[in-house]
Amino acid sequence: MAEENENIDLSKTNEVLDAYEGIHGSLMPVLQKLQTIYKYLPEEAVDLVSERLNISKSKIYGVITFYAQFYITPPGKHIMRLCQGTACHVKGADDVMGKLVERHDVAHKQTTEDGLYTFEEVACLGACAMAPVMTIDGKVYGELTVNKVEGILDEYSS
Ligand code: FES
Repeated sequence: MAEENENIDLSKTNEVLDAYEGIHGSLMPVLQKLQTIYKYLPEEAVDLVSERLNISKSKIYGVITFYAQFYITPPGKHIMRLCQGTACHVKGADDVMGKLVERHDVAHKQTTEDGLYTFEEVACLGACAMAPVMTIDGKVYGELTVNKVEGILDEYSS
């Protein structure tokens, strides 16, 4: 059994697992609940899920890495999603991404050193008419230019 990390309250993981005891196909809902509780999926919690659901850790991490909704490290204060869909690509998303990388030195699913942003590249955000598009904490920003992005990031920097 995984040892309890003093920073992670594994009693919450046990509560979730108790609620799904014996239910077939419970891995996804369990992971979703744990993601909501911890904001990410701590290794200690995954160890416990593996043990109690009798599913190998490699299989669980296969699921975690397949679905964008899951994080294996604590996310930053703000979640920034930059669209890499076709319309945004054609309208200059690469320039915008270049600015983000230059300013924050982050790649997909990484969090900035100051913990302010977690960066994700995503497929079409459904706002192609406003391409290129990004969201920060779900708020949509469109018709982006490098200068516009700089200004938007300044708003969130404090
Ligand atoms: S391709 Fe970017 S919003 Fe659709």
